[in-house]
Amino acid sequence: METDRQLKNVRSFSYDKMYKDTTGHGFDHIQRVVKMSNHLLKQENADRLITLSAAYLHDIADDKLVSDYLSAQAEIITFLRKNAFTDDQIRKITFITQNLSFSKNLDHRILDLPLEGKIVQDADRLDAIGAIGIVRAIYYGGAHAEKIYDPSFKPRQKMSKNEYRDLSHETIINHFYEKLLKIKDLLNTQTAKQIAEKRQQVMLSFLENFKEEWDCEK
Ligand code: ADP
Ligand code: NI
Repeated sequence: METDRQLKNVRSFSYDKMYKDTTGHGFDHIQRVVKMSNHLLKQENADRLITLSAAYLHDIADDKLVSDYLSAQAEIITFLRKNAFTDDQIRKITFITQNLSFSKNLDHRILDLPLEGKIVQDADRLDAIGAIGIVRAIYYGGAHAEKIYDPSFKPRQKMSKNEYRDLSHETIINHFYEKLLKIKDLLNTQTAKQIAEKRQQVMLSFLENFKEEWDCEK
């Protein structure tokens, strides 16, 4: 099977799994991650099929989105086998999708992803910052009944994965200090680092205006 046919099938498999999501990981997020991965690929000497397949599949077997992530993982492998991916390609793609996320890296040492994984990780992280990042944080916070802001809750500095997922003392604004503002220094590729600069300014300006308005300074 040729690459474009394989990618078309991966896209529609991903669509079926993701289109119902209402926590900010819908298919629109997937499409932006694929598009950004494609853009980053231009400057990197990475395998296109592995990169874009991992981009399409990166959020499907995530324990925050599905109750049984092992069976979601098994379903992905069966699907890839049916679509003529080799065992080696399947191993690479599943290694990337299992080790990409911000929350995974809270509990473990930072894993060394292959270049294809570094690209998808950058694309996924870029989608969590800037104007889109602001909307996604608010959308996720609303879906999880977080408070908007409470100055008596201090942002948490170092968190385990369980603490990160414990939202009882979380606010949408604190999420920026706990994660989103730190993303620009965690990116892998030069291109992503450049793109992140403007998005960082967008978030900083949003937070400054938010606090001004909160305190009714103007
Ligand atoms: P990952 O899948 O990389 O671990 P997350 O689940 O942490 O990513 O984040 C997915 C999206 O949800 C991001 O846009 C992120 O900012 C947002 N998000 C995650 N946790 C929170 C939170 N506590 N409050 C607001 N938004 C959040
Ligand atoms: Ni994602």
